[in-house]
Amino acid sequence: MSAAEDGQRFDYVHHLQLDKLLTAMRPVSGHPEEHLFVTVHHALEIWFKHILFDLGRIVTLLDADDLHQANWLMRRIGEILKLAEAHWTVLETMSAADFAEFRGQLTGASGLQSRQFRQVEVMIGLCETAGEAYCARTEKLWPGLIAEYPRTLRGAFFDVYKRHGLSLLDVYRDRWTHHALFQLAENAFEIDRRFQSWRHNHILMVRRQIGIRARGTGGTFFKDYLAATTAYYFFPELFEFRNDLTVAAGGEVMPGEA
Ligand code: HEM
Repeated sequence: MSAAEDGQRFDYVHHLQLDKLLTAMRPVSGHPEEHLFVTVHHALEIWFKHILFDLGRIVTLLDADDLHQANWLMRRIGEILKLAEAHWTVLETMSAADFAEFRGQLTGASGLQSRQFRQVEVMIGLCETAGEAYCARTEKLWPGLIAEYPRTLRGAFFDVYKRHGLSLLDVYRDRWTHHALFQLAENAFEIDRRFQSWRHNHILMVRRQIGIRARGTGGTFFKDYLAATTAYYFFPELFEFRNDLTVAAGGEVMPGEA
């Protein structure tokens, strides 16, 4: 229903539903620094929602072989992830001493419980690369979440190269001829590497706020739990085949996998 049909004047407040958005701040501690803590979480959840929205569009575009539009949106996701990461330094302006003063009142609340974060991971394709334990843990915490994304970005991405009958190495070697396919791989690489960077910098921020050996409000000793997540790759192939480029150029690569 449009604003006019709704009998309301269409304006900035109505369009953005600011009455809903700006009443979502519910601090539990009375500590003034909790405001920033909640704001940063809200901002990231809003971006996760937008990433999910654009991922759906990208998968459809890739399946239709509309590489130009898909590339445009893929680049945007990389930029959003860069922006997401920039929140860590803002959050670090809340001192560890301040956080310690209200952290106890967050009881069991933790980013670990962000369903949207897990949706983003699964929709890009993490369940296909992170191993059984990751998928089992996700399924246990959010039954049915994985089944919501039968078509992942990863699946749609590799099907494009199959349809074109080209390997990543072919595309990189002849990148100006197959420019859209080259750009697609670079954009996917960028999403992967930005996500990893977000994870690494989240860990550095957590160390600063609660110490290296502390237990998180979600119940994990993050030193082990979060460190394990830094080994996740959405597109390990895009990292792996760079070794082939090095070998082809006469360089040396140690045996094993990423
Ligand atoms: C003072 C700030 C923060 C601290 C101390 C912190 C701490 C932690 C810790 C210790 C964990 C491991 C799980 C646990 O035991 O709780 C975790 C996980 C997580 N946090 Fe944060 N966090 C902070 C801010 C944020 C923000 C602003 C977000 C944005 C949404 C966020 C998103 C996440 C996510 C998504 C996970 C799960 C990661 C995964 O499973 O791969 N965190 N956090």
